[in-house]
Amino acid sequence: MSTGVTVWFTGLSGAGKSTIARILEKRLKDMGRKVEILDGDVVRTNLSKGLGFSKEDRDTNIKRIGFVCHLLTRNDVIAISAAISPYRAVRDYNRSLIGNFVEVFTKCSIDECEKRDVKGLYKKARAGEIKGFTGVDDPYEEPLHAEVVCETDKQTPEESAEQILKKLEELGYIHQACKA
Ligand code: ADX
Repeated sequence: MSTGVTVWFTGLSGAGKSTIARILEKRLKDMGRKVEILDGDVVRTNLSKGLGFSKEDRDTNIKRIGFVCHLLTRNDVIAISAAISPYRAVRDYNRSLIGNFVEVFTKCSIDECEKRDVKGLYKKARAGEIKGFTGVDDPYEEPLHAEVVCETDKQTPEESAEQILKKLEELGYIHQACKA
């Protein structure tokens, strides 16, 4: 029997959410599981098209992602959300809605995220070209009880994915084959 679960990533832009999500997706598919990733950047081009980055719009975005994760999870899919989801209350709202919920905090200092600046957005935010950028001039509320904390400035994305798989197994959501 496979059980659905939502793996809910949260963390700053550039902290590694999408990268780890993709590695995790592959590992889970290799085990024969059905997996869907809901990535913030992708969702904002369809399901949440037109939404901005005010608290209200971010909360709406996160609730929409949460609702889809809820539908997938109850059909035994592994749903992976990879959005910043900066507000604790709405993450907890989704946790209650979904039930089978594993929160993963991609913990990375703002300095390191800025150094990486994969999309060049921190530079723009510092230059005042983007207002209300998470971690620069907009809040990020760290989780208090995340099931997994990945220190992405100290460990590789592969190590983080491994850590999440171990937790999913521990919680009974997956059964990895015994290494003989
Ligand atoms: S969330 O706050 O609603 O969870 P989401 O993960 O969907 O955010 O989108 C974040 C992505 O949008 C970032 O990775 C970045 O590429 C882009 N972005 C554009 N403007 C902002 C902003 N003001 N704050 C954060 N991310 C932004």
